[in-house]
Formats: sequence, C-alpha cells, structure tokens
Amino acid sequence: MKSLNQKVVALTGAASGIGRALAQELAAKGAILALADVNAAGLQETVDSLPAGTRVSTHAVDVANKEQVYQWAEAVVQTHGGVDVIINNAGVASQGLIEDLNYDDFNWVFDIVFYGVLYGTKAFLPYLRQRPEGHIVNISSVNGFFPFPSNGPYNCAKHAVKALNQTLIQELRDSNIHITSVHPGGIKTNIVRNSRIVKPLSPKLSKEQAAARFEKIAGTTADQAARIIINGILKNKERLLVGKDAYVLDLLTRTFPQGFSNLVGRIMLRE
Ligand SMILES: NC(=O)c1ccc[n+]([C@@H]2O[C@H](COP(=O)([O-])OP(=O)(O)OC[C@H]3O[C@@H](n4cnc5c(N)ncnc54)[C@H](O)[C@@H]3O)[C@@H](O)[C@H]2O)c1
Repeated sequence: MKSLNQKVVALTGAASGIGRALAQELAAKGAILALADVNAAGLQETVDSLPAGTRVSTHAVDVANKEQVYQWAEAVVQTHGGVDVIINNAGVASQGLIEDLNYDDFNWVFDIVFYGVLYGTKAFLPYLRQRPEGHIVNISSVNGFFPFPSNGPYNCAKHAVKALNQTLIQELRDSNIHITSVHPGGIKTNIVRNSRIVKPLSPKLSKEQAAARFEKIAGTTADQAARIIINGILKNKERLLVGKDAYVLDLLTRTFPQGFSNLVGRIMLRE
C-alpha cells in the first residue's frame, strides 16, 4: 500500500500503548480511523489526542468475543463505506509458570491474543477483498519466536499468531491483500501494568515496580514502534521486527535455536 491517505483503517487496542501511537501516526498520514478497545475512557483519550479534523469512529469491542468483532466489522463498513486495513493489535500477558497457571488464566490470554487476531482477520477479510488493495497487520512479538519462562500462554499465543500470519501470506499470495507479521521487542507501554500476575518470578516486586522495571529495559517507545509499523505497511513488509533488541533476539535465536532461550531462561529463573 503506497499511501494511507483517505484509507479506512480499523485498529484494535487503540486505548493505550502501541495502539494509541498507531492511531496518532495514522491520523497524521491522513487515514480514516475506526478504533476499538474494551477501555472506553482510554479510547476517548486517544481520540482527544488526534489532530482536529481527523475522521474517526470509536467502537466498544472485546476482541475475544467473536460476535462483537463481526458486528464491529459490519459497523465500520456502514460508517465509512468500506475498509482498507485491519490492524489486530489488542493484547494481554500473564505472569506465572505453566505448572501454576490454571486453564482460565491460559484461555484469557489465548482468547485475546490468538482468537482476537483470528476473529479480526476473518471478519474483515471479505470487506478487504472488495477494495483495490487491502492489508492485514497482525501483531505478534519476539515471543512469537523466542519464548521465556513465566510467560507461557503469551509465548504460545504469539507463536500461533506468527503461524497464522505465515499461512495467510501463502494463501493470499495471489490476492489483493498483503499481510504484515509484526514482532516487537520491548516497547514502553502499559503491557505489564495490564497483565494478569498469577505468580510473579520476582515476588518482592509490586506490579507497579515490575512495570517500571520493564519500562527501563524496553528500548523502544510506542511512537517509534508505530512509525516502524506504518513504514512496514507502506512497504508491504511480510515480516517486521520492531526495535534493536528484536533484531538481536532474532539473530541469536536463529544461531542457537534452543540454546539461547535456554540460557535466558536459566538466568531469569535464577533471579
Ligand atoms: N509492549 C511490548 O513490549 C510488546 C512487545 C511485543 C508485542 N507487543 C504487543 O503489542 C500489542 C499492543 O500492546 P501494548 O504494548 O501497546 O500494551 P497496552 O497494554 O499498552 O495496550 C493494549 C491495549 O489492548 C486493549 N485490550 C486488552 N484486551 C482487550 C480486549 N479483550 N478487547 C479489546 N481490546 C483489548 C487494552 O485495553 C489496551 O488498550 C499487543 O498485542 C502486545 O502483545 C507488545
């Protein structure tokens, strides 16, 4: 897609972090926005931060609810006359060893991180087919190829998102639709603050302290991440790493497919 000017972009998880930054950056590029989130107050803050004159609609959507996602797709087309891009960005994480997590904890992450992306992809696909060019952007993570301990459901769900993206790339090769599989490293957002902590690896840290520590380690801001993702859309990138740490983790994982994550895991569990 060469330009996003006057393109209708549907975006989930727009109330915070990367989603909010994407909304701001897309508005600056002249896109027409259909923003979704479960957090209505946060969504309104995002809208308030957009330049005057931005064409934007907001939608209360829980991406884990299939019916709501399909109703949203229909509403976007009714409101804006069609849709060119879907960005499945909403996500959550949990903390706890697989042995300590119950199935509800596991499903909470999977329903949002994997099924939310699958519903968004399938609900919007028929409408994207009606446009000259369509684009699906599904946010995975470095944890889509590099797992670490205490992050099991997220590791598994992000691997599944990567596999979904790779399958879509093959199946839609000869269509009008491009896919971008996005793999961010650490991005300074509310992801830790919004996570479900079942049993933390560092019990001495409060959630807020853990969030502050994450923000210190994370090397990329949400604004930088949004710019990289939008450039990726404009270049029809199939696989997009976000942040220097993502490139380093990618290289080390390719070089030492099991050994590198084993080493990181040992260090984290020792801590
Ligand atoms: N921050 C990072 O370091 C990082 C790294 C790799 C990948 N990611 C991914 O980037 C995406 C954005 O996360 P972020 O870092 O901006 O986190 P964030 O917590 O700041 O934002 C996530 C947004 O998703 C929304 N959301 C959560 N559950 C939802 C649901 N069921 N339905 C609709 N919206 C829902 C939240 O309300 C929030 O607005 C996620 O998919 C995340 O997994 C983040």
